[in-house]
Order: sequence, then structure tokens, then C-alpha cells
Amino acid sequence: MAKLVFDHNNEEVELPDDSPISEACEDAGVPFACTEGVCGTCVIEIKEGKQNLTPPTKEEEDFLGEGTCDERLACQCRIKCGKVKISF
Ligand code: FES
Repeated sequence: MAKLVFDHNNEEVELPDDSPISEACEDAGVPFACTEGVCGTCVIEIKEGKQNLTPPTKEEEDFLGEGTCDERLACQCRIKCGKVKISF
């Protein structure tokens, strides 16, 4: 099982390896709109464990730019395994 941790309240959510994080993020209060990586509403910041997420999608690169930034689109990324801490 993988673990998603929310920085503002240290709430932890267990997810099966390689699952989308969108539902857990939505439950925690992250706003969503398009769910297709276009609008940028669901931007989150990765505080720890970004290597445990799937690589950025084309949509994320188009919106956030390529490179080393710690932002991701919650509607696009999946958690592979281990622990990822996010803030929004
Ligand atoms: S909800 Fe639009 S980019 Fe994620």
C-alpha cells in the first residue's frame, strides 16, 4: 500500500500501489474542475516523496512546464508506492 499525507493536518490516506490520487485529494478538499490536466485548478505541491509519483504527463508539462518544480496536477498523477506528502 502507498500512503498519501496531507501537510496541513498530517492526515494519512492509504491507497493501493499505482492508484490515482485524485479521489483522496478531492476528499481532502483539493478543488477540481476539468479533471483532464487542462485547467490547473487541482495544482498541488509535493513536499516529500515526489519520486513515488508517476512521471508528469504531457498535460502537466504543458501546464506546469518541464523541469524540477514541485508542483503537480492532482488529476493527472498516480502514486506508485511508498509515501508522498502534499500541500494545497
Ligand atoms: S482538474 Fe483541471 S487540471 Fe486537474
